[in-house]
Amino acid sequence: MIDDYNRNIHYVRLSVTDLCNLKCQYCMPEEGVCKKDHAEVLRIEEAYELVKILTELGIDKVRLTGGEPLVRNGIMTLVKKIAALDAVMDFSITTNGILLEKYAQPLKDAGLNRVNISLDTLDADKFKKITRGGDLGAVLRGIEATRKAGLVPIKLNVVMINGFNTDEVETFINMADETLEVRFIELMPIGEAAVWNHEKFISNSHLIEKYSHLLSEEEGAHTGPAKYFRRVDSKGRVGFINPISEHFCSACNRIRITPDGYLKTCLHSNEEIALKPYLDNPSRLKDTILEAVAHKPNRHSINDASFVPISRSMHRIGG
Ligand code: 5AD
Ligand code: SF4
Repeated sequence: MIDDYNRNIHYVRLSVTDLCNLKCQYCMPEEGVCKKDHAEVLRIEEAYELVKILTELGIDKVRLTGGEPLVRNGIMTLVKKIAALDAVMDFSITTNGILLEKYAQPLKDAGLNRVNISLDTLDADKFKKITRGGDLGAVLRGIEATRKAGLVPIKLNVVMINGFNTDEVETFINMADETLEVRFIELMPIGEAAVWNHEKFISNSHLIEKYSHLLSEEEGAHTGPAKYFRRVDSKGRVGFINPISEHFCSACNRIRITPDGYLKTCLHSNEEIALKPYLDNPSRLKDTILEAVAHKPNRHSINDASFVPISRSMHRIGG
């Protein structure tokens, strides 16, 4: 699928639930989320049909997100079915890692290619605080189980919050090795973080400068959404994902599907297209998707004075 700005759209992020077993401060409201009516959330079979149609339109990369995708009933069935689609070349999941101790091997067996794990601190008390009660030990055991299952390289996603985890950058860099890539992600003004004080936001360029002695530049690594480095002392890869400081919209290749079956062509736009009404009519469904993709916004406007954060929360999109 080629959009109006000549971008090739071949990657879908499908959020399979807005529920989560953690409540990260920047993502979930304190009171949690009310369980959506079962009728609203796509059934496993519907989610699969949608992915299948998308592959017929040229999608070859699929990522399952949430909320926390591993708390979704029927997730293993969905993983198996998507993995069996010939057109899917790259199939991954973004998880908080809590349930990986149990699911890493079954996910590998089901045909999943890779896992991204979100982890913002390596301090058990800070982890408890930022996730409102989570157990860091479970995530660390999940990482080991994922390595053991051979679902590698693991990408460890660290959202940088100034004053919270900025003192752990070096520790995280030292975690990078042959089987684990560390990626620092700029906090975005979305979800709960939409109203956070500006002081909590830190540009990755600061970190790159401050820790340049630990990093060596990777050849040809300055294109696309991430800047990649290697640890000077090992084979570990360290990435910086800069959605705010670095407009990577011109290289954007993705669309998103929300748990309730809406198509979002841009994370930072309020525009959502309902797909559920067309699920029983594949040709209408394809036309609707093609039309929406063609009009995918050119770029986000986070840095503009007129910027207004989107109203849908992050746990209902999947990052
Ligand atoms: N800014 C940056 N990343 C975010 N995520 C959730 N909310 C935000 C935000 N405001 C990340 C999670 C996870 C991924 C799904 O999205 O930490 O890594
Ligand atoms: Fe759950 Fe991820 Fe949101 Fe944290 S960021 S509350 S782990 S969905």
